[in-house]
Amino acid sequence: MNLLKNKVVLITGGSGGIGKATAKLFAANGAQVMLVGSTESKLKQTIEELDFPNISYSVADVSRSEDTKRYVSDTLSRFGKIDIFFNNAGIEGESKPIEAYSEKMFDRVIEVNLKGVWLGCQFVLPKISDGGSVIITSSVAGIKGFKGLGAYVASKHAVVGIMRVAALENAHRNIRVNTIHPGPVHTRMMRAIEKQIAPDNPKEAQKGFEAAIPFGRYAEANEIAETVLFLASDQSAYITGTTQVIDGGMCIA
Ligand SMILES: NC(=O)c1ccc[n+]([C@@H]2O[C@H](COP(=O)([O-])OP(=O)(O)OC[C@H]3O[C@@H](n4cnc5c(N)ncnc54)[C@H](OP(=O)(O)O)[C@@H]3O)[C@@H](O)[C@H]2O)c1
Repeated sequence: MNLLKNKVVLITGGSGGIGKATAKLFAANGAQVMLVGSTESKLKQTIEELDFPNISYSVADVSRSEDTKRYVSDTLSRFGKIDIFFNNAGIEGESKPIEAYSEKMFDRVIEVNLKGVWLGCQFVLPKISDGGSVIITSSVAGIKGFKGLGAYVASKHAVVGIMRVAALENAHRNIRVNTIHPGPVHTRMMRAIEKQIAPDNPKEAQKGFEAAIPFGRYAEANEIAETVLFLASDQSAYITGTTQVIDGGMCIA
């Protein structure tokens, strides 16, 4: 399949589970791919693993405007344009009730998950090609509440607001903006959350999440990537301003 032939794709969180699976699928569909993450070694390792010719990376902390401007200019210098923006980097924060949640961690989760998405939209949208597509990674935690994940849930609800405004503000350029809402996915992030919930037996925490999913299992990262590909490609040409849930039925249970 060549759904993204000659398209330039910018992926934040490109060295993580979902970002990497998406980069792989995009590259297999003919895209040129720029990965963004804050740790250079992880980005280098991802590029080595993917082993595609048209992939590059830019080291940036998405919560900083100077870094955001740099990853945009790095993409333009390397590939000459941006057609698709997967605004995906995120962190889980702590798992503690609101009364025990540290202010420092609240600030950091909001900085990365909310301000990072905001800055990405602020600096990428003026440069993205007309007819482009922006996909923002929210979560089932952007649709419903989860005990102990207050800052994360707040950040993932908030990015839906950014998506709706960005979709309205850029429709005249035929740019589409949508959010995706994965349920639990087998990546580093869920392993970290499970460990915080049940340090002595993280598998039990996984079982608890699985019991809340009608399909009875987590998603694999490539199952999320398939939806991102659909939203990135012309197959979804008339879809903007929507919240795409990918959760094995978790939100309706
Ligand atoms: N896994 C799930 O179950 C799940 C479910 C719903 C939604 N999501 C969302 O999906 C997105 C990707 O998560 P994942 O599961 O792929 O987690 P992951 O494997 O932990 O990947 C997170 C990615 O974000 C990058 N990142 C984190 N902080 C950053 C910062 N300040 N600046 C730049 N990059 C940063 C990480 O690279 P560095 O660490 O090197 O910076 C990594 O590439 C997140 O927004 C997450 O909230 C995940």
